[in-house]
Amino acid sequence: MPTKDDLHAFLRTRRSIRHFRPDPVPESVIETILHTATFAPSAHNCQPWRFAVITEPAVKARLGNAVTSKMRTDMIAEGASDAEIEKRAALSLQRMAEAPVVVVLCRDKNAVHANTPTETAMGMQSTALAGLQLLLAAYAEGLGGNWICWALYAQEATRAALDLPDDWEPQAFYFLGYPVLSPEPRTRIPTLEIVKMVTSSELKIS
Ligand SMILES: Cc1cc2nc3c(=O)[nH]c(=O)nc-3n(C[C@H](O)[C@H](O)[C@H](O)COP(=O)(O)O)c2cc1C
Repeated sequence: MPTKDDLHAFLRTRRSIRHFRPDPVPESVIETILHTATFAPSAHNCQPWRFAVITEPAVKARLGNAVTSKMRTDMIAEGASDAEIEKRAALSLQRMAEAPVVVVLCRDKNAVHANTPTETAMGMQSTALAGLQLLLAAYAEGLGGNWICWALYAQEATRAALDLPDDWEPQAFYFLGYPVLSPEPRTRIPTLEIVKMVTSSELKIS
């Protein structure tokens, strides 16, 4: 069994990895990672996470083209120059092409108890926890991974490009693969700056 120090060290050394070796990731490893992701907590144990997994270059290209097409439309509306748009689209397509595995994390809109803003938020929070667990499980397998928020900007384009079920709402992409480098942990805001100890004396409770 790993010690608590081992576990803290593991949790504190995960990094977002953006550059991968081209080596394929065995299917059994992808399955293990996704299985571990499903042990995340979820509101009412509703388990709203759904995963689309892509390893084939042609499917990655299809998704990349759909997402960058939406990106171009959004950037034109924001007044970006052609050069900026093409640079961003080319980088995005390249990063997707270079990732041996792309996982699209979706929220099943029907998994929550009611279609209210609070239940919807709980569904999204629960889905995001599976995303974190997925990254940690990938790290445990010696893989690197990165959370990519493009899915949020192109939910319908993503769903249509991959022919996902209507109820699957894309939340994030994860690019996974064996890392080229294992970078040092990034700095964090000192814990004492982000914690408020709420004591009875401060609240004047006797
Ligand atoms: C909700 C969310 C969205 C993110 N979107 C992106 C993204 O679109 N592109 C990217 O390169 N990294 C993205 N990241 C990764 C963050 O940049 C990264 O986690 C942060 O800089 C801290 O670095 P670390 O993960 O290596 O500790 C995202 C992370 C989260 C949690």
